[in-house]
Amino acid sequence: MKEAFYITTPIYYVNDVPHIGHAYTTIACDALARWHRMLGKRVFFLTGTDEHGEKVQKTAVAKGLSPRELADQVVANFQGLTPALTISNTGFIRTTEPRHYASVQDLFRKSLANGDIYLGDYEGWYCVPDEAYWTALQLADGHCPTCGRPVEKRKEPSYFFRLSKYQKPLLDYYRKHPAFIRPESRRNEVVAFVEGGLNDLSVSRTSLSWGIPVPGAPGHVIYVWYDALTNYITGLGYPTPTAEFGTFWPADIHMVGKDILRFHAVYWPAFLLSAGIAPPLGVFAHGWWTVEGQKMSKSLGNVVDPYEMVRKYGADAFRYFLLREVTFGLDGDFSEKELIKRANSELADKLGNLLNRSLGMLGKYFAGVVPAPGPSEPPDAVLSNCGRETVPAVAAAMDEVAFHKALAAIIELVTKGNEYVQAMQPWSLAKDPGKRARLGTVLYNALEASRVAALLMAPFTPTAAQKLWEALAPGGGPVENARIDRDGAWGGLAAGATLPKACIVFPKIETGA
Ligand code: ME8
Ligand code: MG
Repeated sequence: MKEAFYITTPIYYVNDVPHIGHAYTTIACDALARWHRMLGKRVFFLTGTDEHGEKVQKTAVAKGLSPRELADQVVANFQGLTPALTISNTGFIRTTEPRHYASVQDLFRKSLANGDIYLGDYEGWYCVPDEAYWTALQLADGHCPTCGRPVEKRKEPSYFFRLSKYQKPLLDYYRKHPAFIRPESRRNEVVAFVEGGLNDLSVSRTSLSWGIPVPGAPGHVIYVWYDALTNYITGLGYPTPTAEFGTFWPADIHMVGKDILRFHAVYWPAFLLSAGIAPPLGVFAHGWWTVEGQKMSKSLGNVVDPYEMVRKYGADAFRYFLLREVTFGLDGDFSEKELIKRANSELADKLGNLLNRSLGMLGKYFAGVVPAPGPSEPPDAVLSNCGRETVPAVAAAMDEVAFHKALAAIIELVTKGNEYVQAMQPWSLAKDPGKRARLGTVLYNALEASRVAALLMAPFTPTAAQKLWEALAPGGGPVENARIDRDGAWGGLAAGATLPKACIVFPKIETGA
């Protein structure tokens, strides 16, 4: 039985249009999913949409639609993101599906049955026109933080989850699973929050109707976060004891933005512990993007549309920039100028250049047929050692979910490859018939560095990597079926194979300036 890996994106609110934040989480998950497949694991990769709640209900009313009709229309914006960004998800879940209702109600019932969910009164500051509750902390100068109108104190019956009971079990879980919350700095924040004490959590509303009904309690619907988080087990078939659930639960990584870490690292494991289900193994919180130095917002009109980025630069360059530009886990700044700079200086001038100058010379001097390499000389060993070290370096980076490090290591390899070609001057060797064997060895090594780089780029720039792979491993099949351990071994380039004379996969992006 192969090792299994389960990774999830948050499920996205359908009341918004997809933006760079959605694209970012999904692309990060995709890179990990592809990487783990290339390690030979069985991978389940789930994404989807969060379709209940106040905002969807209101938008629908304003448009004269039922909330379900609205959700059915706008879900396509998110479903379309997966082909546009070349995402390899294996599941897509909508919280409005019947299977999800069954799952949430089952989980809820389990905690009702053991007394962890009980009926009480929810009290808060209520904005009547917005039909929304706020805590005292959320109020803006004593008024509704969204519309600025006065609020009134209100009480309604509500089901509560006994979160207070889970303070110690959660702290124990964090202690036993030091890698549960990453990065480390975020872990410390969460631990401090839980150590500060936990209040029971309101998990139902009577003021809302667009949601999953509380079983056996007409008028109550289950509060959005309880509903939303449960998607991660619904996606595997819960409450039916499916083979998928057995294979893939507990999840290896719930990838989330830093703003929703607490829901995933505190509430979610507590809900699961209460129901006797193992908590996930890991939650990774990534940072946020600003845009050209400013907070991204509708009012500033600077929301980055992933579809537009793909149209302008292609999915590969967009994916590359997002994962290369910043230390994964920290905030970053998005700018098209920087995206173009990265893509041109690294993908085109380094990776593309190494491959194309090598293929060009192979065509010219060896009619495109890969020569068998001769004895290794010291400069060859520098490059081959770098190639051998790059594979485990990328593996270590992917283990710590440090995409920027993985990509830096790959770019380092192709930089060394270009330096090697520059130093070995194959065009000079070609002038001396006595150096033909040496010329063959030099071209072999340069192409081999490209091949290893192509393999390692597959999780990040899948379309380009596939073309590179077809050029360098003709007949080798899809690069996603390649295996890091087997195909990443130095010397895998097949002597005797005929390669194309060129392979332009990273054309220079014209800046127009
Ligand atoms: O939160 N930069 O849905 P959502 C980076 N439905 N990431 C960003 C970002 C930015 N500028 N803006 C938003 C929800 N994000 C819930 C999740 S999961 C059980 C339920 C990220 O559509 C944000 O951190 O608001 C979050 O991970 C996602 O995009 C937005 O999700
Ligand atoms: Mg959000």
